[in-house]
Amino acid sequence: MYLLYTIFAALSFFLLLKWIKRRKYCMDVKRLDGKTVLITGGNSGIGKETAVALALRGARVIIACRNEDKARKAVREIKARSHSMNVLHMEVDLANMRSIREFSKTFLEKEKRLDILINNAGMPSVLDWTDDNFSMCFGVNHLGHFLLTNLLLPRLKESSPSRVITLTCSNYKYQKLDFQDLNYNLFPFFTYCRSKLANIYFTQELARMMEGKGVTAYAVHPGYVQSNWTCHFSFLFQLLMKVIMFMFFVSCEVGAQTVIHCAVADDVVTDSGGYFSDCRPAKLQAFAKDAGVAKKLWEASERLVKHA
Ligand SMILES: NC(=O)c1ccc[n+]([C@@H]2O[C@H](COP(=O)([O-])OP(=O)(O)OC[C@H]3O[C@@H](n4cnc5c(N)ncnc54)[C@H](OP(=O)(O)O)[C@@H]3O)[C@@H](O)[C@H]2O)c1
Repeated sequence: MYLLYTIFAALSFFLLLKWIKRRKYCMDVKRLDGKTVLITGGNSGIGKETAVALALRGARVIIACRNEDKARKAVREIKARSHSMNVLHMEVDLANMRSIREFSKTFLEKEKRLDILINNAGMPSVLDWTDDNFSMCFGVNHLGHFLLTNLLLPRLKESSPSRVITLTCSNYKYQKLDFQDLNYNLFPFFTYCRSKLANIYFTQELARMMEGKGVTAYAVHPGYVQSNWTCHFSFLFQLLMKVIMFMFFVSCEVGAQTVIHCAVADDVVTDSGGYFSDCRPAKLQAFAKDAGVAKKLWEASERLVKHA
């Protein structure tokens, strides 16, 4: 009898978890025919699922990736799943400022529109350095996207109303920025939190600067997602995380929903600069809404990318 109770309780718990995972789907069915979407890191995880969903809605989808083979494979998959031939890849390494400048130049030459830029690519907590000697987390997650967005802003303005969506993480709240040491690279988890906090300030300042110019900006926490971010760690850690992710993390399809929501929903435009989770605006800790810090980070980022 006890065994039956235990099995029943375990099954109920499992179904409850599954239900929680599936709760928040973007219900907006707006089409994106004629629109161009650029997704960094669109070859994997949340970015790939976002690419499929937006290609299904008729958008021209360009995934910006650092690895040619992975990108080609992803384009084949996105085309097959979305039944769209309007999917392509371009090469960029966000850990290298020269690569970002070359990518942007080619993009502006080739593409006449940019309606939605999704700053999705991201590195977890690895204590590595970029080619320009920035901490890998801060360099890729924040500075790389900072430079990319700035270089593509002319096209975003020409295509207005346009949107910039940047993936952040609710872990932002565990750290504050240290302007004496923006390149902080000590405790892996903290380097990640700081880079994701920078994504939030970046979004706020971008929204403020673009007020009245037809470009809106959103920071998205996708939830905790069963993507490929563990591939940067040891086999044992990956194994452990696989079990934890299976139990508690949502699928990449669910993780992409808030990004899709911010890309298509009409009502988000009144919340430019906002932080979104579960397909709706979410609360930020007070320190993460400090407009003075956002401006200071923008100016510091400008100086850093200028010299790189
Ligand atoms: N998974 C979560 O639980 C979670 C939670 C909160 C926020 N996020 C955020 O969601 C975003 C997407 O991550 P994910 O979970 O989908 O992870 P993922 O599956 O590991 O995807 C990350 C993508 O970023 C790309 N990337 C990494 N470094 C790059 C570089 N230097 N240049 C160009 N592309 C680069 C990767 O390319 P390669 O395939 O070549 O490595 C990959 O395509 C990230 O910004 C992450 O911080 C994730």
